[in-house]
Amino acid sequence: MRLSEIAWESFHNLDVYAKAPYLHEHGHPFHVLIAEQFDRAQLDELSALATQIRFIAKSDDGMDFLRSLLRNKRVMLYFSQPSTRTFLSFRAACQILGMRIGDVRDSSTSSEFKGESHEDSVRTFSSYFDCIIMRTKIGGLAEKMAWVLSNSERPVPIVNAGSGSDQHPTQALLDVYTLLRSFEARGGIDGKTIVFVGDLARGRTVRSLASLLINYKDVRQCFVAPDRFQIGKDILARLNAAGVKYELLSDFKSILPEADAVYMTRVQDEWDSEKGESAKIDISRYCIGANDLKLMRPNAIIMHPLPRRKEISTDIDHDSRAMYWRQMRNGMWVRVALIAAIFEVDNKIREYHGKTY
Ligand code: NCD
Repeated sequence: MRLSEIAWESFHNLDVYAKAPYLHEHGHPFHVLIAEQFDRAQLDELSALATQIRFIAKSDDGMDFLRSLLRNKRVMLYFSQPSTRTFLSFRAACQILGMRIGDVRDSSTSSEFKGESHEDSVRTFSSYFDCIIMRTKIGGLAEKMAWVLSNSERPVPIVNAGSGSDQHPTQALLDVYTLLRSFEARGGIDGKTIVFVGDLARGRTVRSLASLLINYKDVRQCFVAPDRFQIGKDILARLNAAGVKYELLSDFKSILPEADAVYMTRVQDEWDSEKGESAKIDISRYCIGANDLKLMRPNAIIMHPLPRRKEISTDIDHDSRAMYWRQMRNGMWVRVALIAAIFEVDNKIREYHGKTY
Protein backbone atom coordinates (compact mmCIF):
# COMPACT_ATOMS: atom_id res chain seq x y z
CA MET A 1 0.00 0.00 0.00
CA ARG A 2 1.32 3.41 -0.93
CA LEU A 3 0.42 6.92 0.11
CA SER A 4 0.22 7.83 -3.56
CA GLU A 5 -2.69 5.41 -3.93
CA ILE A 6 -4.99 6.92 -1.34
CA ALA A 7 -6.74 10.31 -1.14
CA TRP A 8 -5.62 12.55 1.73
CA GLU A 9 -9.02 12.59 3.44
CA SER A 10 -9.27 8.80 3.32
CA PHE A 11 -5.77 8.37 4.74
CA HIS A 12 -6.28 11.03 7.38
CA ASN A 13 -9.48 9.37 8.61
CA LEU A 14 -7.99 5.89 8.91
CA ASP A 15 -7.47 4.37 12.33
CA VAL A 16 -3.82 4.85 13.42
CA TYR A 17 -3.04 1.17 13.03
CA ALA A 18 -4.55 1.08 9.54
CA LYS A 19 -2.10 3.83 8.54
CA ALA A 20 0.95 1.67 9.27
CA PRO A 21 1.11 -0.25 5.95
CA TYR A 22 1.23 3.03 4.04
CA LEU A 23 4.33 4.14 5.90
CA HIS A 24 6.62 1.18 5.25
CA GLU A 25 8.24 0.07 1.99
CA HIS A 26 10.12 -3.19 1.27
CA GLY A 27 9.73 -4.12 4.95
CA HIS A 28 11.50 -0.90 6.00
CA PRO A 29 10.09 2.26 7.53
CA PHE A 30 9.82 5.01 4.91
CA HIS A 31 7.88 7.88 6.45
CA VAL A 32 8.12 7.84 10.25
CA LEU A 33 5.02 9.62 11.51
CA ILE A 34 3.31 7.81 14.35
CA ALA A 35 4.36 5.45 17.13
CA GLU A 36 1.59 3.04 16.16
CA GLN A 37 3.29 2.22 12.85
CA PHE A 38 5.87 0.05 14.67
CA ASP A 39 5.19 -3.49 15.80
CA ARG A 40 7.23 -5.51 18.25
CA ALA A 41 9.39 -7.21 15.63
CA GLN A 42 10.34 -3.83 14.17
CA LEU A 43 11.09 -2.41 17.62
CA ASP A 44 13.31 -5.36 18.47
CA GLU A 45 15.04 -5.09 15.12
CA LEU A 46 15.72 -1.35 15.44
CA SER A 47 16.96 -1.77 19.00
CA ALA A 48 19.30 -4.62 18.03
CA LEU A 49 20.58 -2.49 15.14
CA ALA A 50 21.20 0.46 17.48
CA THR A 51 23.27 -1.81 19.72
CA GLN A 52 25.33 -3.08 16.77
CA ILE A 53 25.92 0.52 15.66
CA ARG A 54 27.10 1.44 19.17
CA PHE A 55 29.70 -1.30 19.02
CA ILE A 56 30.81 -0.50 15.48
CA ALA A 57 31.21 3.17 16.39
CA LYS A 58 33.79 2.33 19.06
CA SER A 59 36.60 1.92 16.49
CA ASP A 60 37.94 4.33 13.89
CA ASP A 61 37.44 1.73 11.16
CA GLY A 62 33.87 1.25 12.32
CA MET A 63 33.23 5.00 12.24
CA ASP A 64 34.71 5.19 8.73
CA PHE A 65 32.42 2.36 7.66
CA LEU A 66 29.32 4.06 9.12
CA ARG A 67 30.28 7.38 7.53
CA SER A 68 30.55 5.73 4.14
CA LEU A 69 26.97 4.46 4.20
CA LEU A 70 25.00 7.59 3.30
CA ARG A 71 27.67 10.00 2.18
CA ASN A 72 25.76 10.74 -1.00
CA LYS A 73 22.55 11.64 0.81
CA ARG A 74 21.43 15.01 2.07
CA VAL A 75 19.02 15.59 4.93
CA MET A 76 17.01 18.66 5.90
CA LEU A 77 16.35 19.32 9.57
CA TYR A 78 13.23 21.48 9.52
CA PHE A 79 12.59 22.46 13.14
CA SER A 80 10.10 25.28 13.52
CA GLN A 81 9.63 24.53 17.23
CA PRO A 82 12.29 24.76 19.96
CA SER A 83 14.52 21.73 20.34
CA THR A 84 17.92 20.88 21.78
CA ARG A 85 18.26 17.12 22.15
CA THR A 86 16.10 15.96 19.28
CA PHE A 87 17.77 18.38 16.88
CA LEU A 88 21.32 17.66 18.04
CA SER A 89 20.88 13.91 18.23
CA PHE A 90 19.35 13.76 14.75
CA ARG A 91 22.16 15.94 13.45
CA ALA A 92 24.78 13.76 15.14
CA ALA A 93 23.04 10.62 13.83
CA CYS A 94 23.07 11.95 10.27
CA GLN A 95 26.74 12.92 10.61
CA ILE A 96 27.61 9.44 11.86
CA LEU A 97 26.12 8.08 8.61
CA GLY A 98 28.08 10.62 6.55
CA MET A 99 25.04 12.60 5.37
CA ARG A 100 25.23 16.25 4.44
CA ILE A 101 22.91 18.38 6.51
CA GLY A 102 20.84 21.50 5.96
CA ASP A 103 18.58 23.10 8.51
CA VAL A 104 15.83 25.62 9.04
CA ARG A 105 15.26 26.31 12.72
CA ASP A 106 13.34 29.51 12.53
CA SER A 107 10.58 30.07 10.02
CA SER A 108 11.19 33.83 10.21
CA THR A 109 14.34 33.16 8.17
CA SER A 110 12.56 31.09 5.51
CA SER A 111 9.94 31.98 2.92
CA GLU A 112 7.16 30.80 5.21
CA PHE A 113 7.56 34.23 6.70
CA LYS A 114 6.57 35.65 3.31
CA GLY A 115 3.40 33.61 3.43
CA GLU A 116 4.59 30.45 1.69
CA SER A 117 2.48 27.42 2.54
CA HIS A 118 3.95 24.43 4.41
CA GLU A 119 3.25 22.34 1.31
CA ASP A 120 5.35 24.61 -0.88
CA SER A 121 8.15 24.84 1.69
CA VAL A 122 8.36 21.09 2.07
CA ARG A 123 8.22 20.53 -1.69
CA THR A 124 11.06 23.00 -1.98
CA PHE A 125 13.13 21.11 0.60
CA SER A 126 12.45 17.88 -1.25
CA SER A 127 14.04 19.37 -4.37
CA TYR A 128 17.38 19.68 -2.59
CA PHE A 129 17.29 16.96 0.07
CA ASP A 130 16.73 13.21 0.27
CA CYS A 131 14.98 13.18 3.65
CA ILE A 132 13.15 15.76 5.76
CA ILE A 133 13.18 15.51 9.53
CA MET A 134 10.61 17.93 10.89
CA ARG A 135 9.36 19.29 14.19
CA THR A 136 6.31 21.47 14.29
CA LYS A 137 3.73 22.70 16.74
CA ILE A 138 0.99 21.77 14.27
CA GLY A 139 -0.45 18.35 15.10
CA GLY A 140 -0.81 16.14 12.03
CA LEU A 141 1.33 18.39 9.79
CA ALA A 142 4.10 15.80 9.34
CA GLU A 143 1.47 13.33 8.18
CA LYS A 144 0.04 15.77 5.67
CA MET A 145 3.50 16.63 4.35
CA ALA A 146 4.35 12.95 3.93
CA TRP A 147 1.21 12.52 1.85
CA VAL A 148 2.02 15.63 -0.21
CA LEU A 149 5.54 14.39 -0.99
CA SER A 150 4.42 10.86 -1.73
CA ASN A 151 2.14 12.40 -4.34
CA SER A 152 4.88 14.55 -5.86
CA GLU A 153 7.71 13.73 -8.25
CA ARG A 154 10.19 13.76 -5.30
CA PRO A 155 8.67 11.34 -2.78
CA VAL A 156 11.34 11.69 -0.09
CA PRO A 157 10.77 10.35 3.44
CA ILE A 158 9.47 12.55 6.25
CA VAL A 159 10.49 11.82 9.82
CA ASN A 160 8.30 13.31 12.53
CA ALA A 161 10.57 14.77 15.24
CA GLY A 162 7.61 15.97 17.29
CA SER A 163 4.25 17.25 16.05
CA GLY A 164 1.92 19.30 18.18
CA SER A 165 1.06 17.81 21.55
CA ASP A 166 0.16 14.62 19.79
CA GLN A 167 3.07 12.48 18.59
CA HIS A 168 6.80 12.10 19.09
CA PRO A 169 7.49 8.67 17.61
CA THR A 170 11.30 8.79 17.58
CA GLN A 171 11.39 9.75 21.26
CA ALA A 172 9.20 6.72 21.95
CA LEU A 173 11.67 4.55 20.01
CA LEU A 174 14.57 5.74 22.15
CA ASP A 175 12.49 5.31 25.29
CA VAL A 176 11.75 1.70 24.35
CA TYR A 177 15.44 1.16 23.61
CA THR A 178 16.32 2.57 27.03
CA LEU A 179 13.79 0.29 28.73
CA LEU A 180 15.04 -2.72 26.79
CA ARG A 181 18.66 -2.01 27.75
CA SER A 182 17.77 -1.37 31.37
CA PHE A 183 15.74 -4.57 31.71
CA GLU A 184 18.00 -6.73 29.56
CA ALA A 185 18.89 -9.03 32.43
CA ARG A 186 15.35 -8.99 33.82
CA GLY A 187 13.32 -10.43 30.95
CA GLY A 188 12.92 -7.23 28.94
CA ILE A 189 9.88 -4.97 29.03
CA ASP A 190 7.26 -7.73 29.39
CA GLY A 191 5.55 -7.76 32.77
CA LYS A 192 6.98 -4.45 33.95
CA THR A 193 5.17 -1.59 35.68
CA ILE A 194 5.76 1.75 33.98
CA VAL A 195 4.64 4.84 35.90
CA PHE A 196 4.10 8.05 33.92
CA VAL A 197 4.09 11.26 35.96
CA GLY A 198 3.26 14.90 35.25
CA ASP A 199 1.57 16.55 32.29
CA LEU A 200 0.32 13.49 30.48
CA ALA A 201 -2.47 15.32 28.69
CA ARG A 202 -0.14 17.39 26.55
CA GLY A 203 3.09 15.41 26.75
CA ARG A 204 3.52 13.92 23.28
CA THR A 205 6.38 11.68 24.42
CA VAL A 206 4.12 9.93 26.94
CA ARG A 207 1.35 9.51 24.40
CA SER A 208 3.70 7.91 21.86
CA LEU A 209 5.43 5.70 24.43
CA ALA A 210 2.14 4.50 25.98
CA SER A 211 1.16 3.35 22.48
CA LEU A 212 4.46 1.59 21.81
CA LEU A 213 4.30 -0.29 25.11
CA ILE A 214 1.13 -2.01 23.87
CA ASN A 215 3.52 -4.20 21.88
CA TYR A 216 4.86 -5.80 25.07
CA LYS A 217 3.13 -8.47 27.17
CA ASP A 218 1.54 -7.79 30.55
CA VAL A 219 2.92 -4.29 30.92
CA ARG A 220 1.06 -2.33 33.57
CA GLN A 221 0.83 1.36 32.74
CA CYS A 222 0.15 3.80 35.59
CA PHE A 223 -0.71 7.40 34.80
CA VAL A 224 -0.12 9.73 37.75
CA ALA A 225 -1.27 13.31 37.27
CA PRO A 226 -3.57 15.98 38.58
CA ASP A 227 -6.97 15.69 36.87
CA ARG A 228 -6.32 18.51 34.44
CA PHE A 229 -3.13 16.82 33.19
CA GLN A 230 -4.40 13.25 33.02
CA ILE A 231 -3.71 11.16 29.88
CA GLY A 232 -6.04 11.57 26.89
CA LYS A 233 -9.10 9.40 26.34
CA ASP A 234 -7.89 8.49 22.85
CA ILE A 235 -4.82 6.78 24.34
CA LEU A 236 -6.96 5.01 26.95
CA ALA A 237 -9.25 3.77 24.18
CA ARG A 238 -6.20 2.26 22.46
CA LEU A 239 -5.10 0.59 25.70
CA ASN A 240 -8.63 -0.73 26.28
CA ALA A 241 -8.87 -2.12 22.76
CA ALA A 242 -5.55 -3.92 23.28
CA GLY A 243 -6.56 -5.26 26.72
CA VAL A 244 -3.69 -3.41 28.45
CA LYS A 245 -3.76 -3.06 32.25
CA TYR A 246 -3.65 0.57 33.27
CA GLU A 247 -4.45 2.77 36.25
CA LEU A 248 -5.21 6.47 36.56
CA LEU A 249 -3.81 7.79 39.82
CA SER A 250 -3.27 11.07 41.58
CA ASP A 251 -1.03 9.80 44.39
CA PHE A 252 2.54 9.34 43.20
CA LYS A 253 4.17 8.15 46.44
CA SER A 254 1.86 5.16 46.85
CA ILE A 255 2.73 3.68 43.44
CA LEU A 256 6.46 4.46 43.58
CA PRO A 257 7.45 1.19 45.38
CA GLU A 258 5.83 -0.83 42.58
CA ALA A 259 7.49 0.93 39.65
CA ASP A 260 10.08 -0.67 37.38
CA ALA A 261 10.37 2.62 35.51
CA VAL A 262 9.21 6.09 36.48
CA TYR A 263 8.78 8.39 33.48
CA MET A 264 8.77 12.01 34.66
CA THR A 265 7.60 14.93 32.50
CA ARG A 266 7.47 18.71 32.75
CA VAL A 267 4.35 20.86 32.54
CA GLN A 268 3.79 21.65 28.86
CA ASP A 269 2.58 25.19 29.51
CA GLU A 270 3.30 26.31 25.97
CA TRP A 271 -0.09 24.75 25.18
CA ASP A 272 -2.03 26.78 27.79
CA SER A 273 -5.14 28.32 26.29
CA GLU A 274 -4.80 31.28 28.59
CA LYS A 275 -1.58 32.64 30.08
CA GLY A 276 -0.78 31.34 33.56
CA GLU A 277 -3.36 28.54 33.36
CA SER A 278 -0.91 25.75 34.28
CA ALA A 279 0.71 27.77 37.05
CA LYS A 280 -2.57 27.50 39.00
CA ILE A 281 -2.16 23.74 39.25
CA ASP A 282 -0.13 22.40 42.16
CA ILE A 283 2.40 19.94 40.81
CA SER A 284 4.54 19.68 43.94
CA ARG A 285 3.26 16.13 44.48
CA TYR A 286 4.45 15.11 41.03
CA CYS A 287 8.16 15.65 41.60
CA ILE A 288 10.92 13.24 42.61
CA GLY A 289 13.80 13.86 45.01
CA ALA A 290 16.28 12.06 47.28
CA ASN A 291 13.67 11.03 49.85
CA ASP A 292 11.51 9.38 47.22
CA LEU A 293 14.37 7.19 46.10
CA LYS A 294 14.11 5.34 49.41
CA LEU A 295 10.67 4.18 48.35
CA MET A 296 11.85 2.87 45.00
CA ARG A 297 13.12 -0.58 44.05
CA PRO A 298 16.91 -0.72 43.87
CA ASN A 299 16.79 -1.76 40.21
CA ALA A 300 14.03 0.58 39.05
CA ILE A 301 14.91 3.40 36.66
CA ILE A 302 13.96 7.07 36.37
CA MET A 303 13.44 8.47 32.89
CA HIS A 304 12.65 11.91 31.52
CA PRO A 305 12.53 13.07 27.88
CA LEU A 306 14.07 16.38 29.05
CA PRO A 307 14.13 19.34 29.34
CA ARG A 308 13.33 19.16 33.03
CA ARG A 309 12.29 21.90 35.34
CA LYS A 310 11.83 21.10 39.02
CA GLU A 311 10.17 17.69 38.68
CA ILE A 312 13.49 15.85 39.13
CA SER A 313 15.76 17.21 41.82
CA THR A 314 19.37 17.52 40.63
CA ASP A 315 20.37 15.79 43.92
CA ILE A 316 19.47 12.45 42.41
CA ASP A 317 21.38 12.84 39.15
CA HIS A 318 24.20 10.60 40.40
CA ASP A 319 21.96 7.81 41.61
CA SER A 320 22.41 4.65 39.52
CA ARG A 321 18.66 4.68 38.83
CA ALA A 322 18.77 8.08 37.14
CA MET A 323 18.61 7.02 33.51
CA TYR A 324 17.83 10.32 31.75
CA TRP A 325 21.36 11.09 30.58
CA ARG A 326 21.85 7.64 29.12
CA GLN A 327 18.34 7.83 27.68
CA MET A 328 19.39 10.98 25.83
CA ARG A 329 22.48 9.32 24.38
CA ASN A 330 20.45 6.27 23.40
CA GLY A 331 18.43 8.70 21.28
CA MET A 332 21.38 9.28 19.01
CA TRP A 333 21.99 5.55 18.43
CA VAL A 334 18.35 4.77 17.79
CA ARG A 335 18.17 7.63 15.31
CA VAL A 336 21.22 6.30 13.47
CA ALA A 337 19.48 2.91 13.31
CA LEU A 338 16.23 4.46 12.10
CA ILE A 339 17.83 6.51 9.33
CA ALA A 340 19.89 3.50 8.25
CA ALA A 341 16.68 1.48 8.06
CA ILE A 342 14.86 4.19 6.09
CA PHE A 343 17.66 4.23 3.51
CA GLU A 344 17.85 0.44 3.57
CA VAL A 345 21.52 0.22 4.56
CA ASP A 346 20.68 -1.65 7.76
CA ASN A 347 21.68 -4.99 6.22
CA LYS A 348 25.14 -3.64 5.46
CA ILE A 349 25.49 -2.75 9.14
CA ARG A 350 24.40 -6.23 10.23
CA GLU A 351 26.88 -7.80 7.80
CA TYR A 352 29.72 -5.58 9.00
CA HIS A 353 28.88 -6.33 12.60
CA GLY A 354 28.75 -10.07 11.85
CA LYS A 355 32.16 -9.97 10.18
CA THR A 356 33.85 -7.85 12.84
CA TYR A 357 32.48 -9.19 16.14
C1 NCD B 1 10.10 16.64 24.51
C2 NCD B 1 9.25 17.24 23.41
O1 NCD B 1 9.72 18.08 22.66
O2 NCD B 1 8.12 16.82 23.31
N1 NCD B 1 11.45 16.92 24.39
C3 NCD B 1 12.23 16.07 23.65
O3 NCD B 1 12.04 15.91 22.46
N2 NCD B 1 13.17 15.37 24.30
C4 NCD B 1 9.57 16.84 25.87
C5 NCD B 1 9.32 18.24 26.36
O4 NCD B 1 9.56 19.21 25.67
O5 NCD B 1 8.88 18.32 27.51
